[in-house]
Amino acid sequence: MLHVLDHPLGAHILTRLRDRATPPAAFRILAYQVSLLLALEATRDLTTRDQVVETPLEKIVGRVLAKPLAVVPILRAGLGMVQPFTELFPDVSVGYVGLERDHVTAVARSYYQKLPPLAGKRVIVVDPMLATGGSAVQALDVLRAEGATELFLVCIVSAPEGVRAVEAAHPSVPIFTAALDRELNAKKYILPGLGDFGDRLYGT
Ligand code: URA
Repeated sequence: MLHVLDHPLGAHILTRLRDRATPPAAFRILAYQVSLLLALEATRDLTTRDQVVETPLEKIVGRVLAKPLAVVPILRAGLGMVQPFTELFPDVSVGYVGLERDHVTAVARSYYQKLPPLAGKRVIVVDPMLATGGSAVQALDVLRAEGATELFLVCIVSAPEGVRAVEAAHPSVPIFTAALDRELNAKKYILPGLGDFGDRLYGT
């Protein structure tokens, strides 16, 4: 269920995101760009239905999207991945799950939750760094309990440990990522990674 983005532009953007010299203003644009590529990949198989329209010349049967979407960023870093979804899919619903990673224990703590109705929708969780997988598993648990049946996870950089954790807890959830990195360090940061995504996004 793991899909690693395979696009030269994706590799280019990722290299610039990883570069410690990239300032927050550029980092935000790059995060937007790679999330756009990932949004397209994670919706490649969306259901469509027939719709008749008239071109200026004749009537045709076209195809339109048939499945409502919801995107759920894990706060705060996930916010940096939402905009491409709202631009590409103007009818998308947006929910929020606030999980904060304790910098010492690396265990996620829930501090906020606001969700739209989820039943019948493709629900795409966005979280840029899939490290231990603790936050992603916790968010997917919450969304499943709130009625989501078709869950997807979209990340920018993933560690093998995080992928394994999500696959163990939610084996039916496809994971889309721009990179599968080597490992976690002792502080549960991804190597080679790109550092703390939220800090780099917001300049904190
Ligand atoms: N969160 C981050 O922002 N970076 C990591 O490397 C791991 C988790």
